[in-house]
Amino acid sequence: MNLAIARLIEKTTILLRKIKDSRDVFPYNRTQSIFVINKRVDGMKKIMMTLAATVLMAAPSLAADIAAGKAKSAVCAACHGQAGVSAVPMYPNLAGQKEEYLKKQLKDFKSGARKDPVMAPMAMPLSDEDIANLSAYYASLK
Ligand code: HEC
Repeated sequence: MNLAIARLIEKTTILLRKIKDSRDVFPYNRTQSIFVINKRVDGMKKIMMTLAATVLMAAPSLAADIAAGKAKSAVCAACHGQAGVSAVPMYPNLAGQKEEYLKKQLKDFKSGARKDPVMAPMAMPLSDEDIANLSAYYASLK
Protein backbone atom coordinates (compact mmCIF):
# COMPACT_ATOMS: atom_id res chain seq x y z
CA MET A 1 0.00 0.00 0.00
CA ASN A 2 2.77 2.44 0.97
CA LEU A 3 4.71 1.52 -2.14
CA ALA A 4 1.64 2.22 -4.29
CA ILE A 5 1.25 5.64 -2.69
CA ALA A 6 4.96 6.41 -3.13
CA ARG A 7 4.74 5.49 -6.85
CA LEU A 8 1.69 7.72 -7.31
CA ILE A 9 3.42 10.65 -5.63
CA GLU A 10 6.46 10.11 -7.84
CA LYS A 11 4.26 10.06 -10.96
CA THR A 12 2.50 13.22 -9.79
CA THR A 13 5.79 15.01 -9.25
CA ILE A 14 7.01 14.08 -12.72
CA LEU A 15 3.76 15.23 -14.31
CA LEU A 16 3.82 18.49 -12.37
CA ARG A 17 7.30 19.18 -13.69
CA LYS A 18 6.10 18.39 -17.23
CA ILE A 19 3.15 20.74 -16.85
CA LYS A 20 5.50 23.47 -15.70
CA ASP A 21 7.74 22.82 -18.71
CA SER A 22 4.75 22.69 -21.10
CA ARG A 23 4.75 26.45 -21.47
CA ASP A 24 7.89 26.13 -23.53
CA VAL A 25 6.92 23.04 -25.58
CA PHE A 26 5.49 24.85 -28.60
CA PRO A 27 6.37 28.50 -28.12
CA TYR A 28 5.01 29.38 -31.62
CA ASN A 29 1.83 27.29 -31.48
CA ARG A 30 -0.47 28.34 -28.67
CA THR A 31 -3.31 25.92 -29.56
CA GLN A 32 -1.00 22.95 -29.56
CA SER A 33 0.62 24.04 -26.30
CA ILE A 34 -2.78 24.37 -24.60
CA PHE A 35 -3.78 20.92 -25.91
CA VAL A 36 -0.64 19.36 -24.45
CA ILE A 37 -1.05 21.20 -21.15
CA ASN A 38 -4.70 20.11 -20.84
CA LYS A 39 -3.76 16.50 -21.49
CA ARG A 40 -1.13 16.65 -18.77
CA VAL A 41 -3.51 18.33 -16.35
CA ASP A 42 -6.08 15.58 -17.03
CA GLY A 43 -3.39 12.99 -16.31
CA MET A 44 -2.67 14.80 -13.05
CA LYS A 45 -6.33 14.76 -12.08
CA LYS A 46 -6.57 11.02 -12.69
CA ILE A 47 -3.51 10.37 -10.56
CA MET A 48 -4.78 12.62 -7.77
CA MET A 49 -8.13 10.77 -7.75
CA THR A 50 -6.37 7.40 -7.53
CA LEU A 51 -4.16 8.79 -4.79
CA ALA A 52 -7.15 10.07 -2.82
CA ALA A 53 -8.96 6.72 -3.21
CA THR A 54 -5.85 4.79 -2.14
CA VAL A 55 -5.37 6.95 0.94
CA LEU A 56 -9.07 6.73 1.84
CA MET A 57 -8.98 2.95 1.56
CA ALA A 58 -5.91 2.77 3.77
CA ALA A 59 -7.34 5.24 6.30
CA PRO A 60 -9.55 2.97 8.46
CA SER A 61 -6.76 0.48 9.16
CA LEU A 62 -4.28 3.30 9.73
CA ALA A 63 -6.63 5.13 12.08
CA ALA A 64 -7.51 2.16 14.32
CA ASP A 65 -5.33 1.98 17.40
CA ILE A 66 -5.12 -1.55 18.82
CA ALA A 67 -3.42 -0.42 22.06
CA ALA A 68 -6.12 2.19 22.69
CA GLY A 69 -8.75 -0.48 21.97
CA LYS A 70 -7.15 -2.80 24.51
CA ALA A 71 -7.15 -0.06 27.14
CA LYS A 72 -10.81 0.64 26.44
CA SER A 73 -11.73 -3.07 26.63
CA ALA A 74 -11.34 -3.37 30.43
CA VAL A 75 -15.08 -2.99 30.96
CA CYS A 76 -15.90 -5.40 28.12
CA ALA A 77 -13.63 -8.07 29.62
CA ALA A 78 -16.08 -8.57 32.50
CA CYS A 79 -18.40 -10.38 30.09
CA HIS A 80 -16.37 -11.11 26.97
CA GLY A 81 -13.29 -12.41 28.80
CA GLN A 82 -9.76 -11.05 29.29
CA ALA A 83 -8.61 -11.94 25.78
CA GLY A 84 -11.99 -11.79 24.10
CA VAL A 85 -12.87 -15.39 24.95
CA SER A 86 -15.89 -15.50 27.22
CA ALA A 87 -16.30 -17.85 30.17
CA VAL A 88 -20.09 -17.45 30.20
CA PRO A 89 -22.16 -19.45 27.66
CA MET A 90 -24.51 -16.53 26.88
CA TYR A 91 -21.69 -14.03 26.24
CA PRO A 92 -20.16 -14.31 22.77
CA ASN A 93 -16.41 -14.58 22.06
CA LEU A 94 -15.01 -11.52 20.30
CA ALA A 95 -11.40 -12.65 19.77
CA GLY A 96 -10.50 -13.07 16.13
CA GLN A 97 -13.90 -11.87 14.91
CA LYS A 98 -13.92 -9.82 11.71
CA GLU A 99 -13.10 -6.15 12.35
CA GLU A 100 -15.80 -4.76 10.05
CA TYR A 101 -18.42 -7.05 11.60
CA LEU A 102 -17.51 -5.94 15.14
CA LYS A 103 -17.68 -2.30 14.09
CA LYS A 104 -21.10 -2.79 12.55
CA GLN A 105 -22.48 -4.61 15.62
CA LEU A 106 -21.24 -1.90 18.00
CA LYS A 107 -22.68 0.85 15.80
CA ASP A 108 -25.97 -1.07 15.55
CA PHE A 109 -26.17 -1.54 19.34
CA LYS A 110 -25.48 2.18 19.71
CA SER A 111 -28.12 3.26 17.18
CA GLY A 112 -30.66 0.67 18.34
CA ALA A 113 -30.67 -1.12 14.97
CA ARG A 114 -29.58 -4.20 16.94
CA LYS A 115 -31.41 -4.46 20.22
CA ASP A 116 -29.99 -5.98 23.35
CA PRO A 117 -30.67 -4.63 26.85
CA VAL A 118 -27.18 -5.60 28.03
CA MET A 119 -25.11 -4.33 25.09
CA ALA A 120 -27.04 -1.14 24.34
CA PRO A 121 -25.78 0.75 27.42
CA MET A 122 -22.27 -0.62 26.77
CA ALA A 123 -22.17 0.74 23.22
CA MET A 124 -23.93 4.02 23.96
CA PRO A 125 -20.93 5.95 25.38
CA LEU A 126 -18.50 4.69 22.70
CA SER A 127 -17.29 7.20 20.10
CA ASP A 128 -16.65 6.17 16.48
CA GLU A 129 -12.97 6.15 17.36
CA ASP A 130 -13.55 3.87 20.38
CA ILE A 131 -15.56 1.52 18.19
CA ALA A 132 -12.82 1.41 15.53
CA ASN A 133 -10.11 0.81 18.15
CA LEU A 134 -12.06 -1.86 20.08
CA SER A 135 -12.90 -3.66 16.83
CA ALA A 136 -9.28 -3.58 15.69
CA TYR A 137 -8.17 -4.88 19.11
CA TYR A 138 -10.61 -7.82 19.23
CA ALA A 139 -9.99 -8.69 15.58
CA SER A 140 -6.25 -8.80 16.29
CA LEU A 141 -6.69 -11.48 19.00
CA LYS A 142 -6.53 -15.12 17.99
C1 HEC B 1 -22.60 -7.15 31.08
C2 HEC B 1 -22.03 -7.99 30.06
C3 HEC B 1 -21.43 -7.34 28.85
C4 HEC B 1 -20.50 -6.32 28.80
C5 HEC B 1 -19.86 -5.58 29.96
C6 HEC B 1 -20.21 -6.10 27.40
N1 HEC B 1 -20.94 -6.96 26.62
FE1 HEC B 1 -20.85 -7.15 24.61
N2 HEC B 1 -22.29 -8.54 24.64
C7 HEC B 1 -22.91 -9.02 25.77
C8 HEC B 1 -24.00 -9.92 25.40
C9 HEC B 1 -24.93 -10.64 26.34
C10 HEC B 1 -24.01 -9.97 23.98
C11 HEC B 1 -24.96 -10.74 23.07
C12 HEC B 1 -26.08 -9.80 22.70
C13 HEC B 1 -27.18 -10.45 21.88
O1 HEC B 1 -27.60 -11.54 22.24
O2 HEC B 1 -27.61 -9.83 20.90
C14 HEC B 1 -22.92 -9.10 23.54
C15 HEC B 1 -22.59 -8.89 22.22
C16 HEC B 1 -21.54 -8.13 21.80
C17 HEC B 1 -21.12 -8.00 20.43
C18 HEC B 1 -21.73 -8.69 19.22
C19 HEC B 1 -21.03 -10.01 19.05
C20 HEC B 1 -21.57 -10.83 17.89
O3 HEC B 1 -21.01 -11.91 17.66
O4 HEC B 1 -22.51 -10.42 17.21
C21 HEC B 1 -20.06 -7.15 20.41
C22 HEC B 1 -19.25 -6.70 19.21
C23 HEC B 1 -19.81 -6.75 21.77
N3 HEC B 1 -20.71 -7.36 22.58
C24 HEC B 1 -18.80 -5.88 22.16
C25 HEC B 1 -18.66 -5.40 23.45
C26 HEC B 1 -17.72 -4.37 23.81
C27 HEC B 1 -16.74 -3.70 22.84
C28 HEC B 1 -17.88 -4.14 25.14
C29 HEC B 1 -17.19 -3.11 25.98
C30 HEC B 1 -17.33 -1.75 25.60
C31 HEC B 1 -18.90 -5.05 25.61
N4 HEC B 1 -19.36 -5.79 24.56
C32 HEC B 1 -19.32 -5.15 26.93
C33 HEC B 1 -22.56 -8.71 27.07
C34 HEC B 1 -21.70 -7.72 27.46
